[in-house]
Amino acid sequence: MENDVPDSLQLKSLVLRGTRFDPPLFLAPMANLTHSALRRLLADFGGYGALFTEMLSAKMILHENFTHSPWLKRRPHEGKVVYQLLVTDADKLPEIIAHLSGLQPDGLDLNCACSAPTIMQQHGGAALFEEPSRMAGIVRIMRRCYAGPLTVKIRLGRQRDDWRSRLMERIHILESEGVDALILHPRFLEEKLRRLARHDLYGEIAACTRLPLIANGDISGAEYVRMRPAQFDSVSGLMMGRHAIAQPWLFGQWRNPSLSVDLGEVVRRFCGYLADDFNPDKAMRRLKIWTPYFACNFVYGHTLFKAVQGAPDWERAVTRILEFLDTGPERRTSISVDGL
Ligand SMILES: Cc1cc2nc3c(=O)[nH]c(=O)nc-3n(C[C@H](O)[C@H](O)[C@H](O)COP(=O)(O)O)c2cc1C
Repeated sequence: MENDVPDSLQLKSLVLRGTRFDPPLFLAPMANLTHSALRRLLADFGGYGALFTEMLSAKMILHENFTHSPWLKRRPHEGKVVYQLLVTDADKLPEIIAHLSGLQPDGLDLNCACSAPTIMQQHGGAALFEEPSRMAGIVRIMRRCYAGPLTVKIRLGRQRDDWRSRLMERIHILESEGVDALILHPRFLEEKLRRLARHDLYGEIAACTRLPLIANGDISGAEYVRMRPAQFDSVSGLMMGRHAIAQPWLFGQWRNPSLSVDLGEVVRRFCGYLADDFNPDKAMRRLKIWTPYFACNFVYGHTLFKAVQGAPDWERAVTRILEFLDTGPERRTSISVDGL
């Protein structure tokens, strides 16, 4: 393996149903962020095993055109792409998966982790995890209809005294339904991102399942993992979200710590990729969603944030970021994504 993870962490390539993810580093699914334009940007730096799409409403897939849909399209340059599905019921699921197969996904992931109120109200995400028999029925159909790697992204479930036994019950259901790996974001359903992820639980949970665990939550990069070998030595992969959005070169730098990054070039490319896929209004919206993350790289990042949020149109939004970079803004040595 090319990346710089110490051997003690045993981050060997992860093979699921014959598909090799090497290194076993993954971009987390993030709504409005992990679209093809951002994935192209990460792909320019490489260093990951697969990139996850943002969560895709399964029903929407039937009506989308693969060539034009900014949600579904992928380019060969992106490398391996795992499609994350938000499934709220089993209706038309075989047709949806058959249609999606046209994109040759490198894996499918079922979202059983999202606890946003709108998703919970639709009985999807973390709400689905709370209903084991409904979840089992959906996973059974996905497994029957899709022969490639099938993962499920989960949290710890509801915060109750018996959370451990409930979690293990659900994990064993996923095992018996033929899931290949679990992505574990170790926060309870009720917890926001402010509370630290409970990485110290991976060892205990990994010991109770034969499924490989992919760790997610608050992982900021190679150094973070290197400093906590006891927490991560039982996991088979690592997934990063906010930090990889803020620093699209994160995986590339993991592999090659001396990788130098031209921030102006990063912005120019990203804006070009957004303009390829979205009309100016939608591109500007995506740029405004990304800017708070990118702004974390700078001591006075709030100046950048404000300049872009207040931009009246796409051209001025792009110009304002480039002008900010031209001032040679002071960079943070370590970045925090708290509050995002
Ligand atoms: C803006 C935003 C959008 C997200 N969208 C999704 C999503 O579509 N599907 C999902 O499973 N999780 C989603 N998440 C959760 C992330 O995948 C991840 O679990 C969480 O951010 C913790 O990981 P991190 O600390 O590496 O960011 C989202 C998180 C954020 C902040």
